Amino acid sequence: MSDAIENAKRLAAARAADLVRPGMRLGLGTGSTARHFVDFVGAKVRAGMDLLCVPTSEATRAQAQSLGIPLTTLDDTPELDLTVDGADEFDPALNLVKGGGGALLREKIVAAASGRMIVITDRSKQVDRLGRFPLPVEVVPFGLEATRRLVAKVAGQVGCTGAIRLRHDSAGHVFVTDGGHYILDCAFGAIPDVAGLAAGLVSVPGVVEHGLFIGLAKAVIVADAAGVEVLGDLS
Ligand code: A5P
Repeated sequence: MSDAIENAKRLAAARAADLVRPGMRLGLGTGSTARHFVDFVGAKVRAGMDLLCVPTSEATRAQAQSLGIPLTTLDDTPELDLTVDGADEFDPALNLVKGGGGALLREKIVAAASGRMIVITDRSKQVDRLGRFPLPVEVVPFGLEATRRLVAKVAGQVGCTGAIRLRHDSAGHVFVTDGGHYILDCAFGAIPDVAGLAAGLVSVPGVVEHGLFIGLAKAVIVADAAGVEVLGDLS
């Protein structure tokens, strides 16, 4: 990761941290950009700010715990004020592809439970049309090949074709999500009908969730060497 990109991620996270107010219930995203945000939240807690947070992954939970951030669950705190998370792609309508880090299911549950979801990214994630980043689709291990074929079928019906690969980790083992599921990475290229693809994917019984986040982000804070730009509404 270049220093410039890392710096942009940190800048975007810092802008999002300005939105955090005492007493807020926060969703904490997952990934290298959200990690900066969690660091800022940790600094606020250390400085005495009263916050209660729900992590979107076990990795984020571990980071938050190491920083002394008070954590809760969506069972005890089912409505959150604000979730700040990264994304793998965002388009002009602020629709997203997420799940590059494998946390898309918890990320979507937490975002949907939040009054506001704000996305923080560097400029490299901005696209005219979603699909350059292979779309992660979380599936149950049972019936994997049958599910993969059905995913290909429903995707083909809305003009999406391409390799659908089972995700492996860097050690070569099948990647298993925090929920005990697998991920199919779908290299469809530009997606002509995002809503249609989403509807097709949720109709497949073995699909747990997909990485298309439609209408969930209120704003995207995008940073590059020139500074920070806000797309959408932060309020
Ligand atoms: C995690 O599952 C993803 O949705 C991340 O939010 C996404 O991959 C962005 O990660 P980075 O901030 O590391 O690019």
